[in-house]
Amino acid sequence: MLTIDYRLLPEEKRGTLQNTSNLGFGTKFTDHVFLMYFNETEGWHDAQIVENSSINLSVSAAVFHYAQEIYEGMKAYRDRNGQVFLFRPWENAKRFNESAKRLCMPELNEEDFVIAIRELIKIEEKWVPCTENSALYIRPTMIAISDNINLVAATEYLFFVVLSPVDPYFKTEKKYLDIYVEDKMARSVYGGVGNAKTGGNYAASLLSTKIAHSKSCSQVLWLDGKDRRFIEETGVMNIFFVQNGNLLTPLLNDTILPGITRKSVLQLAKDNGIKTVEGKISIEEIIEGILDGTVTECFGTGTAAGIAAIGTLNYKNHVYEINRKLIGPITEKLQYNLVGIQYNVLEDPYNWRMPL
Ligand code: COI
Repeated sequence: MLTIDYRLLPEEKRGTLQNTSNLGFGTKFTDHVFLMYFNETEGWHDAQIVENSSINLSVSAAVFHYAQEIYEGMKAYRDRNGQVFLFRPWENAKRFNESAKRLCMPELNEEDFVIAIRELIKIEEKWVPCTENSALYIRPTMIAISDNINLVAATEYLFFVVLSPVDPYFKTEKKYLDIYVEDKMARSVYGGVGNAKTGGNYAASLLSTKIAHSKSCSQVLWLDGKDRRFIEETGVMNIFFVQNGNLLTPLLNDTILPGITRKSVLQLAKDNGIKTVEGKISIEEIIEGILDGTVTECFGTGTAAGIAAIGTLNYKNHVYEINRKLIGPITEKLQYNLVGIQYNVLEDPYNWRMPL
């Protein structure tokens, strides 16, 4: 059982959740963080919930040099009666350990991972917003902190959890996203770390994202690292298409992040009698399907983004419009189902919700 040392701020020094109608994403943080340290003699130790302030690390800490870092993205949702729920936290605990193995980092007891998050949110409960579609974003992270610039796996680590009240990642005037299909740079390669949730994957995406923005697109769509043909995922989301009424998404392999929203959406689609196909999907067949009218919907899924409708694909300087940029019925249905479970409006047949 995890023993936590609580060093909490006095009430009068704690902040408040302000401007709940315009939270944005990832710039506001709660008063406290969870910290826990690892070394080879003690294992994971010194769990604490403390004021959210700077931590003291040497400039020689391994994470700054070789990016030995992993993280998770989760959310806590408040229902209409004020009760707070996590969504499938065990899935995040499992994926965190998969990423840890790939990055040569120590695994965390899954129960401790969930306890750390729940205990922190219990203290920060007032920060869980109650406005529509907003939530408390949870960022569990592990970094290598050994003072060592030799290229070996570190021997000391810090696990921390930081909380941020947020709006959906894409909260724009438009109801759909414009996506830039990257046909030169690649996000990942077979045998690489594309399926691990590690910061380096996201740092490597910044240049393409900048190009996407210069083309008035909000996201990059990545193609495979070998032929730049097969669709993988977008900058912050897995991707889905509706073709001839079937739901298509790229089959997971070691180049694609195994999204928990992706997995949930596939289940919800099956429950709604929609045929799901996980396979290799080429950009050419999707463009052809958009042009001949068989591809009628496209959307992305992710914790930060939820289910976000995609209205256009910009590929090799042509803009292909999907379904006149209208949100399609399958996208809407899945959004309704997922959000309904997350916010405790609909039945939860698989016990995905975990009360705080
Ligand atoms: C998430 O959806 O939780 C992510 O980790 C994506 C991040 C870049 C916001």
